Amino acid sequence: MKSMHFHKFLWMFIASMFLFFSCGNSEDITPIPIPDTIPIDTVSTVDTTSLKKVSPFPFGAALNVYLLKNNTKYRSTVIKEFNSVTPENAMKMKNISLGRGLYNWTDADYIVDFAQQNGMRIHGHALVWYKSTPDWVTNFVGTKEDWKQILHEYIVAVVGKYKGKISSWDVLNEAINDDGTSRDCVWLQNIGIEYIDLCFQYAREADPDVLLFYNEYGTEYSSAKRTAVNKLVNDLIGRSIPIDGIGLQMHTSIARSNSDIQNAITVAAQTGLKIHVAEFDIKVNPDKLQDITYNATLAAAQKEKYKVAAKALFDLPTTQRYGFTFWGVCDTNSWIPAEYGCPDWPLPFDSDYNRKDAYYGILEGLK
Ligand code: XIL
Repeated sequence: MKSMHFHKFLWMFIASMFLFFSCGNSEDITPIPIPDTIPIDTVSTVDTTSLKKVSPFPFGAALNVYLLKNNTKYRSTVIKEFNSVTPENAMKMKNISLGRGLYNWTDADYIVDFAQQNGMRIHGHALVWYKSTPDWVTNFVGTKEDWKQILHEYIVAVVGKYKGKISSWDVLNEAINDDGTSRDCVWLQNIGIEYIDLCFQYAREADPDVLLFYNEYGTEYSSAKRTAVNKLVNDLIGRSIPIDGIGLQMHTSIARSNSDIQNAITVAAQTGLKIHVAEFDIKVNPDKLQDITYNATLAAAQKEKYKVAAKALFDLPTTQRYGFTFWGVCDTNSWIPAEYGCPDWPLPFDSDYNRKDAYYGILEGLK
């Protein structure tokens, strides 16, 4: 035993003498060449940085409960990169509302617990959306007052349930058509245009502190819609209907011009409200080709759009920069391929959760 200790000591002594003398003369050390093809940013930030650390405003993603539970790479990427979450589907009316007064909170609760455990802000999505109307609501028969009552019951139940836990809600989603007219829906049919005011008022009644957003797509390609959104929002503000922010979905593509992307953000900001880039993704296959592969040219074009959008939000006054949310985490969990029936790679992480050029576009946009 004794001689083993002595040998160990001897070796440690020799090794430390070697280190001492070899480090003493630093000129003798030949520097390891750093290849100039690797961007310095990538080298220094790859494992130590994250969007939430770099950005002055929250970054987030739409979360899928199944993936959060079952895919460790998905879950760890979310925890590492983001400080804001939006449930992709778990808080939609069709998923929560099983019948009048009958609620399924399971998935919504899971996301809320996950976000709280990881210190993330929660953005609720979406109280009223024409595409998520449960059958019992579609088939409901009643007077205008009855319809107001079921709307009130639902909004107060959901907002009240997560009061103090959720920071903000998309109160109303996609209520305007591309030509700027009001979108048809059961609430418009049965209550009239007043339903819009009521959604916001009921949400405010249930939680005086939660931030209330109007969420919309397409303001980057339709000037009529851009104008109509601001008109609606300014009208609400003018009549003291509670509203705090505008969500711009921005499901857009590499074919969209930089100025269109910037314009969507800067025009919405003219209302003075908070701006949430709420569902960002950039299609690289807008022509829906079936036979296409992701390549460096597409990656570079996509990177530019990510940069332009991040910069446009970054350039707003600090109080108006609510956050930037991707609609999904990595390419394989994007809704785009299923929705458009073609391959695509719309998100900032590849199918193996590696950072794509798009990710670095965001970092450049935040400088
Ligand atoms: C999408 C989800 O990503 C899909 O999983 C679901 O099947 C349909 O809804 N605008 C919105 C989002 O506001 O709620 C939509 O999310 C995408 C378009």
